[in-house]
Amino acid sequence: MKKYIAGLLAVLLLAAGCGQKTNEPDNKPTGAAGEPTMAVEQTTPEPTKEEQPTPTPEPTKAPDPTKAPEPTKADLPVDVSIREVFEEHGMKAGTCLSDFMVRDKNCIDIITAQFNSITMENLMKPDYTLDREASIAAGDLVVAFNDMTQLMLDWARDNNMAVRGHTIIWHSQTPKWIFHENFDTAQPYVTREVMLARMESYVRQVFEKLTELGYIDLFYAYDVVNEAWMEDGSIRKEQNYWYEIIGDDYLWHAFYYADKYAPETIDLYYNDYNEQYKTDTLVNFVKTLVDEDGRFLIDGIGLQAHLYTGDDLQGYLKTVERLGATGLKVELTELDVSLGTWQNTLPATEENLRLQGRYYYDLINGLLQLVQEEKVEMDALTFWGFADSLSWRKNASPLLYNSRYQPKYAFYGAAQMKELAGFDE
Ligand code: GLA
Repeated sequence: MKKYIAGLLAVLLLAAGCGQKTNEPDNKPTGAAGEPTMAVEQTTPEPTKEEQPTPTPEPTKAPDPTKAPEPTKADLPVDVSIREVFEEHGMKAGTCLSDFMVRDKNCIDIITAQFNSITMENLMKPDYTLDREASIAAGDLVVAFNDMTQLMLDWARDNNMAVRGHTIIWHSQTPKWIFHENFDTAQPYVTREVMLARMESYVRQVFEKLTELGYIDLFYAYDVVNEAWMEDGSIRKEQNYWYEIIGDDYLWHAFYYADKYAPETIDLYYNDYNEQYKTDTLVNFVKTLVDEDGRFLIDGIGLQAHLYTGDDLQGYLKTVERLGATGLKVELTELDVSLGTWQNTLPATEENLRLQGRYYYDLINGLLQLVQEEKVEMDALTFWGFADSLSWRKNASPLLYNSRYQPKYAFYGAAQMKELAGFDE
């Protein structure tokens, strides 16, 4: 039945000529956006790669078999599911989802076998959910989930996938016209009051429209704000018009409105990258997200976890533990582990792939232990895809399957099968 639904969906998608949007550039600056620095001290962060002007290339949507690393020993036909491993710890296993993936049989087979949660890779970002024509006509920001998004949410429902909403308030992949009078970039910015009213309306409509369309019950978490803090502890200012127009308290208001309009069943998240270099900042920040009675307006901290095999793993687990000690949920929301370091990515040699397998094994083992010891409340862990060829960081082979969709050591590491995860025989 599942296969039938997937087939039907593929036909519908092709007939609708959907999918062109995925080839639009992901306007993200660089590195998720910034790359981790090598500094471990929070007080003296090194400049991040984010400051470099080169845009991150859009992930290729089609697998490229010629560049695939050679199949490794990890190609053994072992029947194992990350989803089942995580389920034993009360956690969902997630992947990001693109329209390419729901049209590709290999991808569908992997997703339905391995995962039970999805995050739209792009389609629920503000660039896609805010409708300029409708906003001009209504004189207010209008949220609209396009046909492709709805087809993918239907697919999620038909395949028993829970959904993480990503994302509402962000400096990147957000149309500039929302900040201007009459939704026209040639006109001045609106006032703080108008922008707050637009923010409230935007946040309200996200939850209202998902409810009207019948999708709201799929969502268990939503990234209300993405990437608002810098490594030096300051608020992001560059290209951040939410901040520029409203001021520092735009963050509090975003969560205030989300708390007001989201159903209780959806956990509200703050999501960021370079979390291991921003830990103090994040701990201090979330403490400010309370109402006048001291009640949290936020439920969880999302850690993008765009890591490298050269990153300090124990230090990373400490970050997770410290954030867990805030009492909020913690979720790894975009996990990938690139080969090497951000300054120097390494090729997909047998040795490096083994190292990556061990890194995935140890990382996930450490996280599951923190969960088991109740040091961290984590009800899901999302990988930012599964196959290297579909990754935004495909040159650093950061994911679980190679470009031929064969499981790597990394896969077995994530699935906690130590004997296949690249440790010495
Ligand atoms: C960040 C965002 C994601 C995505 C990645 C790059 O981590 O949160 O939505 O844009 O960068 O793919």
